[in-house]
Amino acid sequence: MKSHSTGLALYPGSFDPFTFGHLDILERGCRLFDHVVVTIANNSSKRGFFSPQERRDLILKCVGHLDNVSVEIFEGLLVEYASRKKAIALLRGLRQVSDFDYEFRMSFANRRLAPEVETVFLMTSEAHALISASIVREIHGHGGDISSFVPEPVLSSMLSK
Ligand code: PNS
Repeated sequence: MKSHSTGLALYPGSFDPFTFGHLDILERGCRLFDHVVVTIANNSSKRGFFSPQERRDLILKCVGHLDNVSVEIFEGLLVEYASRKKAIALLRGLRQVSDFDYEFRMSFANRRLAPEVETVFLMTSEAHALISASIVREIHGHGGDISSFVPEPVLSSMLSK
Protein backbone atom coordinates (compact mmCIF):
# COMPACT_ATOMS: atom_id res chain seq x y z
CA MET A 1 0.00 0.00 0.00
CA LYS A 2 1.48 3.34 -1.04
CA SER A 3 1.64 6.01 1.66
CA HIS A 4 0.42 8.88 -0.55
CA SER A 5 -1.46 9.35 -3.78
CA THR A 6 0.58 8.96 -6.96
CA GLY A 7 -2.24 9.19 -9.46
CA LEU A 8 -3.24 7.46 -12.62
CA ALA A 9 -0.89 6.61 -15.48
CA LEU A 10 -1.67 5.31 -18.95
CA TYR A 11 0.61 2.68 -20.43
CA PRO A 12 -0.08 3.15 -24.16
CA GLY A 13 1.05 0.95 -27.02
CA SER A 14 0.11 -1.46 -29.76
CA PHE A 15 0.84 -4.59 -27.69
CA ASP A 16 0.61 -6.83 -30.75
CA PRO A 17 1.47 -9.04 -28.98
CA PHE A 18 1.99 -8.27 -25.28
CA THR A 19 5.52 -9.46 -24.38
CA PHE A 20 7.53 -10.13 -21.23
CA GLY A 21 9.15 -6.73 -21.90
CA HIS A 22 5.73 -5.02 -21.68
CA LEU A 23 4.89 -6.98 -18.54
CA ASP A 24 8.15 -5.90 -16.90
CA ILE A 25 7.50 -2.20 -17.56
CA LEU A 26 3.89 -2.57 -16.40
CA GLU A 27 4.83 -4.34 -13.14
CA ARG A 28 7.37 -1.66 -12.34
CA GLY A 29 4.97 1.15 -13.32
CA CYS A 30 2.39 -0.34 -10.96
CA ARG A 31 4.77 0.27 -8.08
CA LEU A 32 5.04 3.96 -9.00
CA PHE A 33 1.41 4.85 -9.68
CA ASP A 34 -1.87 4.20 -7.87
CA HIS A 35 -3.38 2.80 -11.00
CA VAL A 36 -2.11 2.02 -14.49
CA VAL A 37 -4.38 1.68 -17.49
CA VAL A 38 -2.90 -0.35 -20.32
CA THR A 39 -4.27 1.58 -23.30
CA ILE A 40 -4.27 -0.34 -26.54
CA ALA A 41 -4.20 1.87 -29.62
CA ASN A 42 -6.88 0.88 -32.09
CA ASN A 43 -5.23 1.82 -35.35
CA SER A 44 -7.97 0.90 -37.81
CA SER A 45 -5.70 1.49 -40.84
CA LYS A 46 -3.31 -1.26 -39.68
CA ARG A 47 -4.45 -4.88 -39.53
CA GLY A 48 -2.67 -6.46 -36.62
CA PHE A 49 -1.83 -10.04 -35.72
CA PHE A 50 -4.42 -9.85 -32.94
CA SER A 51 -7.49 -7.59 -32.97
CA PRO A 52 -7.54 -4.90 -30.26
CA GLN A 53 -10.22 -6.92 -28.40
CA GLU A 54 -8.08 -10.08 -28.53
CA ARG A 55 -5.10 -8.09 -27.23
CA ARG A 56 -7.19 -6.74 -24.37
CA ASP A 57 -8.41 -10.23 -23.40
CA LEU A 58 -4.87 -11.63 -23.54
CA ILE A 59 -3.38 -8.78 -21.49
CA LEU A 60 -6.10 -9.28 -18.86
CA LYS A 61 -5.02 -12.93 -18.59
CA CYS A 62 -1.40 -11.84 -18.04
CA VAL A 63 -2.01 -9.24 -15.32
CA GLY A 64 -4.15 -11.16 -12.83
CA HIS A 65 -1.40 -10.81 -10.19
CA LEU A 66 -1.55 -6.97 -10.36
CA ASP A 67 -4.40 -5.34 -8.46
CA ASN A 68 -4.01 -1.78 -9.79
CA VAL A 69 -4.20 -2.41 -13.54
CA SER A 70 -7.00 -2.14 -16.03
CA VAL A 71 -6.96 -2.58 -19.79
CA GLU A 72 -8.75 -0.37 -22.31
CA ILE A 73 -8.81 0.22 -26.05
CA PHE A 74 -8.57 3.79 -27.29
CA GLU A 75 -8.95 5.52 -30.60
CA GLY A 76 -7.78 8.98 -31.60
CA LEU A 77 -5.21 11.15 -29.88
CA LEU A 78 -3.55 9.64 -26.85
CA VAL A 79 -3.29 12.92 -24.93
CA GLU A 80 -7.01 13.58 -25.38
CA TYR A 81 -7.75 10.17 -23.92
CA ALA A 82 -5.29 10.90 -21.08
CA SER A 83 -6.99 14.22 -20.31
CA ARG A 84 -10.43 12.58 -20.31
CA LYS A 85 -9.18 9.96 -17.85
CA LYS A 86 -7.40 12.65 -15.76
CA ALA A 87 -4.15 10.71 -16.12
CA ILE A 88 -1.05 12.48 -14.85
CA ALA A 89 1.46 10.42 -16.83
CA LEU A 90 2.11 8.31 -19.88
CA LEU A 91 4.34 5.35 -19.16
CA ARG A 92 6.73 4.16 -21.85
CA GLY A 93 9.54 1.61 -21.86
CA LEU A 94 12.92 2.35 -23.40
CA ARG A 95 15.16 -0.39 -24.70
CA GLN A 96 18.08 0.56 -26.87
CA VAL A 97 19.33 3.87 -28.30
CA SER A 98 17.25 3.36 -31.43
CA ASP A 99 14.06 3.86 -29.39
CA PHE A 100 15.12 7.33 -28.28
CA ASP A 101 14.50 9.29 -31.45
CA TYR A 102 10.90 8.11 -31.84
CA GLU A 103 10.16 8.36 -28.12
CA PHE A 104 11.62 11.87 -27.82
CA ARG A 105 9.64 13.14 -30.78
CA MET A 106 6.45 11.55 -29.49
CA SER A 107 6.90 12.89 -25.95
CA PHE A 108 7.67 16.42 -27.21
CA ALA A 109 4.58 16.37 -29.41
CA ASN A 110 2.43 15.03 -26.58
CA ARG A 111 3.77 17.62 -24.16
CA ARG A 112 3.03 20.45 -26.57
CA LEU A 113 -0.55 19.20 -26.92
CA ALA A 114 -1.04 18.52 -23.20
CA PRO A 115 1.71 20.01 -20.98
CA GLU A 116 -0.01 18.72 -17.83
CA VAL A 117 0.61 15.09 -18.82
CA GLU A 118 4.18 13.91 -18.21
CA THR A 119 5.79 11.07 -20.12
CA VAL A 120 7.66 8.78 -17.74
CA PHE A 121 10.23 6.42 -19.24
CA LEU A 122 11.40 3.27 -17.55
CA MET A 123 14.53 1.57 -18.82
CA THR A 124 13.89 -2.02 -19.72
CA SER A 125 15.40 -4.78 -17.60
CA GLU A 126 18.44 -6.32 -19.33
CA ALA A 127 16.64 -9.62 -19.85
CA HIS A 128 14.11 -7.91 -22.10
CA ALA A 129 16.31 -5.35 -23.85
CA LEU A 130 16.06 -7.01 -27.24
CA ILE A 131 12.41 -8.07 -27.27
CA SER A 132 10.04 -6.26 -29.56
CA ALA A 133 6.55 -7.26 -30.65
CA SER A 134 7.59 -7.09 -34.30
CA ILE A 135 10.53 -9.45 -33.73
CA VAL A 136 8.24 -11.84 -31.87
CA ARG A 137 5.80 -11.80 -34.82
CA GLU A 138 8.68 -12.34 -37.25
CA ILE A 139 10.12 -15.32 -35.32
CA HIS A 140 6.66 -16.81 -34.94
CA GLY A 141 5.94 -16.30 -38.66
CA HIS A 142 8.97 -18.47 -39.44
CA GLY A 143 7.93 -21.16 -36.98
CA GLY A 144 10.51 -20.22 -34.33
CA ASP A 145 10.19 -20.69 -30.57
CA ILE A 146 8.75 -17.56 -28.93
CA SER A 147 8.16 -19.07 -25.48
CA SER A 148 10.90 -16.98 -23.87
CA PHE A 149 9.44 -13.73 -25.24
CA VAL A 150 5.74 -13.83 -24.37
CA PRO A 151 3.66 -14.87 -21.35
CA GLU A 152 1.84 -18.22 -21.53
CA PRO A 153 -1.66 -16.94 -22.50
CA VAL A 154 -0.14 -15.04 -25.45
CA LEU A 155 1.99 -18.03 -26.44
CA SER A 156 -0.92 -20.49 -26.59
CA SER A 157 -3.08 -18.01 -28.43
CA MET A 158 -0.36 -17.34 -31.04
CA LEU A 159 0.28 -21.05 -31.48
CA SER A 160 -3.41 -21.74 -32.06
CA LYS A 161 -3.86 -18.94 -34.65
O1 PNS B 1 3.65 0.23 -29.12
P1 PNS B 1 3.80 1.40 -30.06
O2 PNS B 1 3.29 1.02 -31.43
O3 PNS B 1 5.19 1.97 -30.07
O4 PNS B 1 2.81 2.55 -29.50
C1 PNS B 1 2.67 3.79 -30.18
C2 PNS B 1 1.46 4.57 -29.64
C3 PNS B 1 0.20 3.74 -29.75
C4 PNS B 1 1.69 4.93 -28.20
C5 PNS B 1 1.33 5.89 -30.49
O5 PNS B 1 1.30 5.55 -31.85
C6 PNS B 1 0.09 6.68 -30.15
O6 PNS B 1 0.03 7.33 -29.14
N1 PNS B 1 -0.94 6.60 -31.03
C7 PNS B 1 -2.20 7.28 -30.84
C8 PNS B 1 -2.31 8.52 -31.73
C9 PNS B 1 -1.54 9.68 -31.14
O7 PNS B 1 -1.87 10.23 -30.12
N2 PNS B 1 -0.46 10.07 -31.85
C10 PNS B 1 0.37 11.17 -31.45
C11 PNS B 1 1.62 10.73 -30.74
S1 PNS B 1 2.92 11.75 -31.32
